[in-house]
Amino acid sequence: MPKLTVIQSQKTPDAAAVDALIAEDANKDLLRFLTCGSVDDGKSTLIGRLLYDSRLVYDDQIAAIESGTAKYKTSAGEPDLALLVDGLQAEREQGITIDVAYRYFASSKRKFIVADTPGHEQYTRNMATGASTCDFAVVLVDARKGVVTQTRRHCCIVNLLGIRKVALAVNKMDLVDFSRERFDEIAAEFTDYARSLGLDEVVSIPVSALRGDNVLEPSRHMDWYHGPTLMAHLETVDATSDWETRPFRMPVQWVNRADSDFRGFAGTITGGTLRQGDRVTALPGGKSTTVARIVTYDGDLEEAHAGDAVTVTLADEIDVSRGGVLCDPESEAEMSDQLAAHVIWMDQQPMLPGRTYILRSGSQHASASISTLKYKLNVDNLEHQAGKNLELNEVGYCNLSLDRPLVFDAYKNNREMGGFILVDRLTNKTVGAGMIEFGLRRATNIQWQKLDIDKAVRSDLKGQKPCVLWFTGLSGSGKSTVASLLEKQLHAAGRHTYVLDGDNVRHGLNKDLGFTDADRVENIRRVAETARLFVDAGLIVMVSFISPFRSERRMARELFAEDEFMEVFVNTPLEVCETRDPKGLYKKARAGEIKNFTGIDSAYEVPDRADIILEAGKRSPDDLVADLMSSLQKKGFI
Ligand code: ADX
Repeated sequence: MPKLTVIQSQKTPDAAAVDALIAEDANKDLLRFLTCGSVDDGKSTLIGRLLYDSRLVYDDQIAAIESGTAKYKTSAGEPDLALLVDGLQAEREQGITIDVAYRYFASSKRKFIVADTPGHEQYTRNMATGASTCDFAVVLVDARKGVVTQTRRHCCIVNLLGIRKVALAVNKMDLVDFSRERFDEIAAEFTDYARSLGLDEVVSIPVSALRGDNVLEPSRHMDWYHGPTLMAHLETVDATSDWETRPFRMPVQWVNRADSDFRGFAGTITGGTLRQGDRVTALPGGKSTTVARIVTYDGDLEEAHAGDAVTVTLADEIDVSRGGVLCDPESEAEMSDQLAAHVIWMDQQPMLPGRTYILRSGSQHASASISTLKYKLNVDNLEHQAGKNLELNEVGYCNLSLDRPLVFDAYKNNREMGGFILVDRLTNKTVGAGMIEFGLRRATNIQWQKLDIDKAVRSDLKGQKPCVLWFTGLSGSGKSTVASLLEKQLHAAGRHTYVLDGDNVRHGLNKDLGFTDADRVENIRRVAETARLFVDAGLIVMVSFISPFRSERRMARELFAEDEFMEVFVNTPLEVCETRDPKGLYKKARAGEIKNFTGIDSAYEVPDRADIILEAGKRSPDDLVADLMSSLQKKGFI
């Protein structure tokens, strides 16, 4: 039996013992792998078995497990190995969320870091987090259940995240009488699926994690099986990354200006090798120079490799800041503000095309929206399905549009440079993870044309300061009435104005849009862009749209300078709007004749940072407009 050493993350053994183990393991190569399977497939038991059979788990932990009460025994009376790794469980019971647990162990041949990802409803998030650091995956299935949707889904995500080799552990073989037929059937079905995904290698192994069959030691119950044990396979599989042979990349995390003479660029090398004297190009600037020094805490290096965290100084002063990337000049990274990428959705709130999210890739960030959802991937049969949005745990292939160019590589060539997350602008939650396939156009092809006659010149001629008054509120709240009355007064005062009204714009520019969440997002995106053009033309613009979502109102706000945009909340209670019902629409909505009606069966998110609130249920339009006129005067617009 191979000798295993184990360091448990929960307990700290004495420091000298750890140092000795680390020294012993220093020269062994490292396999990072992920375990995945659906709930109850026995993941924790399997990892526990790997640790327990080594007998180097701490004695007190073994004692705790072996002497445990019935609660800690499995039905068969065996110690529950899952307890070894289910420190997670206890933490979860205390309400602490742990996304991925990493455990370190080593055999005489290799050292391992196993990423264990809990399989609850947030599993895509956890899997994506775990898999993005792994080179190999062990997919578990229960021999009684065989390949299930979860198995296929996990395998699909594993593949998307760039893992090319997997082991299928067909677990609980003891519960199917160690049946060779059953194993062959499951292995064949899984291998077929893995082949259709394009995985490079699948090795199927029949195991009983509970009893230890084929985990470390060959099973005495399955003499028909001649392949490796799981441990033997983990020790020999050739799945370590080839990042070092890829072109040099180093995303700059920060610029270290220790003193006036020293300007170093700190970051972790994510591809290739760097030597003193090498030429490097700094993107996005595009200037090249040579490497003067490679500085580390332990002194200067001649050369550094993928995975190393270093500080680089350059021979010439060139423009590089946080978010920039140092690259091999012979094989530069790409730059684009339009990307094609796979996106895994991780949030309860669906992804809506057109909504802007914050895209983060390493230390770069941009404002990004999904401009097209080309298809959703059906993980069962890998079919491409049409779809308007992505729900929790769904995978889509999308075009993304960014507000600035991103420096990137295709994910398959460099995971750090090609991977990104999408963050909700309001909640700051990570809502999606993406893998870039390619850029859709070179960023430099289309540039904003600076015209001689600009906003300032246009508004000077009109003698006014352009701005947007963004009216939001329920249907029937009085937005259009107030906007129209305000325009009349502004017009009478000699101002150049325009009202963009939801009902009107939906007759032309937006006549292809309905009232689903996704369509409303697009509706607001278009009218916000239109308002921006009108403000650029020097006009005072009134936008009168329900604009029910905070996220899009915020997106609209960010298109303008701070003092150019005023959010006007027309705060009329639903009951009042419904009593007024000027178009008879509430009646129809209540009768179920109109679907997705705001306030009835479609959400209205009340503004939390309106600049002006109009109590339009209580006060007359004339009074409200008088208030608005005086606000505009105070702010210097009229
Ligand atoms: S928004 O939500 O996308 O901003 P918008 O302001 O363009 O909506 O359009 C709202 C107008 O469309 C309402 O004033 C009403 O006249 C009409 N309408 C028709 N169906 C609906 C619906 N399902 N929900 C809300 N408004 C609707």
